[in-house]
Amino acid sequence: MRIVIATDHGGFPLKETVIQAVRKAGHEAIDLGTHSIESVDYPDYAQKLGQAIQSGEADRGVLLCGSGIGVAIAANKMKGIYAAICHNTYAARQGVEHDGMNVLCLGARVIGPEIVKEVVPAFLGAEFIGNEPGEKRHARRVGKVQEIERR
Ligand code: RB5
Repeated sequence: MRIVIATDHGGFPLKETVIQAVRKAGHEAIDLGTHSIESVDYPDYAQKLGQAIQSGEADRGVLLCGSGIGVAIAANKMKGIYAAICHNTYAARQGVEHDGMNVLCLGARVIGPEIVKEVVPAFLGAEFIGNEPGEKRHARRVGKVQEIERR
């Protein structure tokens, strides 16, 4: 898959670890910045990443900021973007399988590189299961989320 990665200055210290984890999992990493610890505004980077997914340039994304919260709030304002903070592998996998999460948000002031190396492959290795027999309830629930999105 093509994976976009974007961060503000708060998440920058973990950006390279995310990029390496994406590549190690066998995916293409597309770096949308920022490129230093100079202060920037997280909504600008969340929007850039969301647009890359909306346009089809990328399949999924990883967003970073200090807490993971600002980028998650901003990204979820965008149609077709389903972003969540997952600082453990269970949530990173299940968020995709059950909820169709397509953007993983991480807080670089909350977690460290070793968590990133486990959470990123858990996110990328998961697929939405809502179209499988016996699992249709997940598709129904995501459909209800999309109905809210439409309104
Ligand atoms: C930046 O200082 C910080 O507010 C930002 O990275 C993020 O944590 C916001 O949610």
